[in-house]
Amino acid sequence: MKILAIESSCDETAAAVVVDGRKVESNIVASQIEEHKLYGGVVPEIASRRHVESIAGVVGEALSAASLGYGDVDAIAVTYAPGLIGALLVGVSYAKGLSLSTGLPLIPVHHIAGHIAANYITHPDLEPPFLCLVVSGGHSLIVEVKDYTVFNVLGRSRDDAAGECFDKAARVLGFPYPGGKHIDEAAKSGSKTAYKFTHPKLSGCEYDFSFSGIKTAVVNLVHNAEQRGEKLSREDVAASFQKTVADILGEKTALAAKATGYKKIAVAGGVSANSGVREKMKRVADSLGATLYLPDLRYCGDNAAMIGAQGYYDFLSGKRGDMSLNAVATMGL
Ligand code: KG4
Ligand code: ZN
Repeated sequence: MKILAIESSCDETAAAVVVDGRKVESNIVASQIEEHKLYGGVVPEIASRRHVESIAGVVGEALSAASLGYGDVDAIAVTYAPGLIGALLVGVSYAKGLSLSTGLPLIPVHHIAGHIAANYITHPDLEPPFLCLVVSGGHSLIVEVKDYTVFNVLGRSRDDAAGECFDKAARVLGFPYPGGKHIDEAAKSGSKTAYKFTHPKLSGCEYDFSFSGIKTAVVNLVHNAEQRGEKLSREDVAASFQKTVADILGEKTALAAKATGYKKIAVAGGVSANSGVREKMKRVADSLGATLYLPDLRYCGDNAAMIGAQGYYDFLSGKRGDMSLNAVATMGL
């Protein structure tokens, strides 16, 4: 089954053609990052406008890169939640228009389920049930993937998402938006033990995260050094910060894996591209005798191939959208 998938939840306009949820025929991503960089973060109004300008071209490119026309695809999948409402609406409206004009079925896909499904593309052998650490710019979750469309969230961030924390630490260190990948790069030549950031102590759910304290610790460290006229090594701060975040993510996932007994652990979302997080998760999985599944780097950040992958399983489970489908900014898995 060939699915044409569309993703526009944040600052990438993306379209892809995916066969049977696993094989990517084309994957086009038009990033708006260069424009949002000027403002140090995503400006929702600009994002919506750029999606409107790009979507027809990106969808056309995805079809032509796969050498297909509308008559060759079997369904249209689209991200409808969660995300920036104006941005989501562009993809949802376009997909509804395509569905109406072609008669193809419409499949609404949850963005986070899509991130998880990126692993099905990279690992053709991966099947639920498994445990998944989802770390993106907007979410940090530990999820039991009980089946392709059945999820149970065990833990979540009580404040900032991991990616948000990376971006804010990067900003105070003077790196451009989005800073996660710059921290990753700088950390390669820094010392992980130069600075000590404490792990937050949380009462209640032991699988929950909190990143706002670490973010504030980095901000204070940098500002105090500036006030004293001291020069900090950005590389050392980046390496120490990245190690702290990776350790927290790894330790919480290990706790959840031990308690639930899963021997398959996956990681998903933009921050799953982080080399420190990937290494830490490998050590965690090895220590538990579990198999680790990491998405290929090109499927970590936002893309439409992951939406096509999840869309296939949503289709099999009977999920359909009609002309009343709306975008939703906030929605749990
Ligand atoms: O999943 P994603 O593309 O978008 C959302 O759904 O939010 O995640 C974007 C986040 C940003 O915060 C970005 O800085 C972070 O992923 N990110 C990274 C790396 N690459 C992207 N964070 C740390 N290390 C990286 N290599
Ligand atoms: Zn995302």
